Amino acid sequence: MAKVGGIQQKQRPLNMQKLIPFEQAIVRKYPEQVVLVTTRSREGKANVMTAGWSTIASEEPPMFVLGIADEAYTLELIRQTSQFVVAFPSEQMAEQALFAGSHSGRDRDKPAEANIGLQDGVAVKAPLIRDAVANFECTLVQMLKPGDCHLVIGQVVAAHVNTVAGLHRLYTLAKGHVLGGVRQAQP
Ligand SMILES: Cc1cc2nc3c(=O)[nH]c(=O)nc-3n(C[C@H](O)[C@H](O)[C@H](O)COP(=O)(O)O)c2cc1C
Repeated sequence: MAKVGGIQQKQRPLNMQKLIPFEQAIVRKYPEQVVLVTTRSREGKANVMTAGWSTIASEEPPMFVLGIADEAYTLELIRQTSQFVVAFPSEQMAEQALFAGSHSGRDRDKPAEANIGLQDGVAVKAPLIRDAVANFECTLVQMLKPGDCHLVIGQVVAAHVNTVAGLHRLYTLAKGHVLGGVRQAQP
């Protein structure tokens, strides 16, 4: 037992950092939180995609930033309409989140196929997700492409919460997911 500041401490293995390639280190990021992003085409078709790359970009005014890949239909619809909704799925929505993250709305009707209930918002045409814990209607502020991914920044113009008290948020899917594939949360 070593004594640190008068307190007995158990001997631990030596803690230090070792240099490894980015691809190996970044898997320690998981589990990663997920959100659902909804959009609606000019023709009125609603779409939902799952996104792990999201965070708050500003508190005042409130903004979200999403990392969206080139090929996502969602990106095309955000470019087309400058509107989207960020929703926090509820615990019961894991299967729907997996479905929305594994199929493209370009050739499917994901809300209908996965039975994802939608509701009209008040500020944008992209729909709210009825069973989500919370929904944030956003208008596009800026889109950046610093690398191979688009950073989509949207200002929150209306926020909604579920009327069911005690509904828990689905924080993550069981396995870690990355763009274009699935990988284990831990190496
Ligand atoms: C858990 C999970 C997280 C994901 N995170 C992202 C993400 O942050 N950005 C992204 O572009 N795609 C992400 N994807 C993949 C998209 O959801 C997927 O490519 C989807 O088919 C795109 O739908 P869309 O073409 O209808 O827009 C994720 C998938 C899963 C399952």
